[in-house]
Amino acid sequence: MCGIIGVTSTEPVAPKLADGVRRLEYRGYDSVGLATLDGGAIGIRKGVGKVDEVDAQLDFAAAAGNTGIAHCRWGTHGGITHNNAHPHLSPNGKVAIVHNGIIENYLALKQDLQANGHAFASETDTEVIAHLIELELEHGGTLKDAVHRASKQLVGSYALGVLSADEPGTLVATRNESPLVIGFGDREHLIASDVAAILTHTDTVVYLDNHEVAVLTAESCAIYDDGGFAIDKQREKIDWDMEAAEKGGFEHFMLKEIHEQPGKLADTISPRLRDHEVVFEAETGVTAEVLRGIDRVIFLACGTSWHAAMVGEFLFEELAKTPAEVEYASEFRYRNAPIPPGTLVVAMSQSGETADTNAALEEAVRRGTRTLAVCNVRGSTMTRIAHHTVYTHAGPEIGVASTKAFTTQIAALYLLNIAMAQAKGVLNQQQIDSMIQGLRQAPLQVEQILDQNDTIQKIAKHFTSRSNAIYLGRGVHFPIALEGALKLKEISYIHAEGYPAAEMKHGPIALIDKQMPVVVIAPTDKLTYQKTLGNIEEVKARDGVVIAIATEGDQTIAQLADHTIYIPESLYSIGPLLSVIPLQLLSYHVAELRGCDVDKPRNLSKVVTVE
Ligand code: F6R
Repeated sequence: MCGIIGVTSTEPVAPKLADGVRRLEYRGYDSVGLATLDGGAIGIRKGVGKVDEVDAQLDFAAAAGNTGIAHCRWGTHGGITHNNAHPHLSPNGKVAIVHNGIIENYLALKQDLQANGHAFASETDTEVIAHLIELELEHGGTLKDAVHRASKQLVGSYALGVLSADEPGTLVATRNESPLVIGFGDREHLIASDVAAILTHTDTVVYLDNHEVAVLTAESCAIYDDGGFAIDKQREKIDWDMEAAEKGGFEHFMLKEIHEQPGKLADTISPRLRDHEVVFEAETGVTAEVLRGIDRVIFLACGTSWHAAMVGEFLFEELAKTPAEVEYASEFRYRNAPIPPGTLVVAMSQSGETADTNAALEEAVRRGTRTLAVCNVRGSTMTRIAHHTVYTHAGPEIGVASTKAFTTQIAALYLLNIAMAQAKGVLNQQQIDSMIQGLRQAPLQVEQILDQNDTIQKIAKHFTSRSNAIYLGRGVHFPIALEGALKLKEISYIHAEGYPAAEMKHGPIALIDKQMPVVVIAPTDKLTYQKTLGNIEEVKARDGVVIAIATEGDQTIAQLADHTIYIPESLYSIGPLLSVIPLQLLSYHVAELRGCDVDKPRNLSKVVTVE
């Protein structure tokens, strides 16, 4: 939540700051601002609203100076006001700061400062840091020393970009728990919350670790550890191309990302598949011996990633014959849940920066269990906490509503299951081969579903004036019912709930009338199909409007349901990769038709770095 960027260069930086903060906007869009250092003076332009709105009023790119910082805000402390917008200045106006995170002890610090005569211009926790840095500068030393000493007084999470009017050309950055990456450009250095913000300027980065301090000028980058000693850090090459962070002709990032799924699934699956096996070991360090030693899996995740984990729970039980359970990361970390020996804790995250998931993962590491991250962002905090990482190759996901990250997470879990089933010898080669075959087909099958975009858009028209919706699914499709409901509510603001189909009779059926759309995921299978047909009959008997997701060629369901969207036939366990696609498109079109801001839904942030 909140995005920060900073640049120090041999040329004016404002255009780069404006472009970067626009790319970071998915992290927060309550207010936006930048500070540039022009000679010995700090100039600030900031305002309430989205980047385009504020930029139209203030003309960010016209700000003078070769060093600067910028910020987009998702408000935590204090209202959505001009004064609470970043950057914040210290009392003498000589220090400017942008911050992503939460300072938990800010109130105590603020009271101390106020008792010593400090007046505050905002209600934010961040402004306290600017005051502390100014005080530390008065005690002597450089901006780097002051930032280091001030950060010692902070409890909580922070990624900071700091300028001082007395050190023109210098940008100082530090972090604890909030992400911060340093980019190496052509006679310039950059900092950002996320590589996507600086990809146009560099593909070479260093990830700052907790409590490290970076001192950047156009020509130099020095990084210091917590003890103040200069350190050398490994530079990494980012293989995401810039195009991946653009809309590429689509109206919204979300729509583009939905359509990218065939390619991204193939990128995630293909390099790991051989004719008769999954190859993971060299990449992840997860050997067959490690897999054989796993008796239980505990998933930790939030939101959409939690839904992917629920699919994972099903897969581990069904395919790898290994007990699995799914925990909300935010709950797990405050419980004393037993972690028996032989447990693999799997943390799932698109960003790798979700505060609750990372804290729960850290707790698992502390308790001595083996951990694995399933994550999309290379070098993110999560991948540095976990013992092993399986990357999803979804590329940058900018739309706030997660789509391609979800399906690639499921594909990664499926691969892990094949590997585990093979290592444990719980499935025969024929079964393994058919799973490999099924997975290979999935990208093409997703493509076929995307071809029905126009049909789905027409169905979406029936939702636009509704206030509620119900999503039903059974077995491996129950998490997809939850995910479909989440997608609808988060971007179209229609209240939606997902249930296991059989649970409908235990309460939700009371809600059904002719105003209630009921989305039923009912692909043909031996176990539950007939029962789900029964649920559709029950909805129809109460005048509900049924939108069925059915297997191609199923005429029975088409006669019962008001609208039917077909998905290709697949192995039951691969079904979620397909059944979720029409639900993503449905929610997209409903939100679009309702005039909602699809890529930046209200109150949300793409990366939840606060608890
Ligand atoms: C919903 C959505 C969120 C995220 C959740 C976890 O579309 O995107 O629910 O899934 O905030 O984020 P990550 O996966 O980055 O840990």
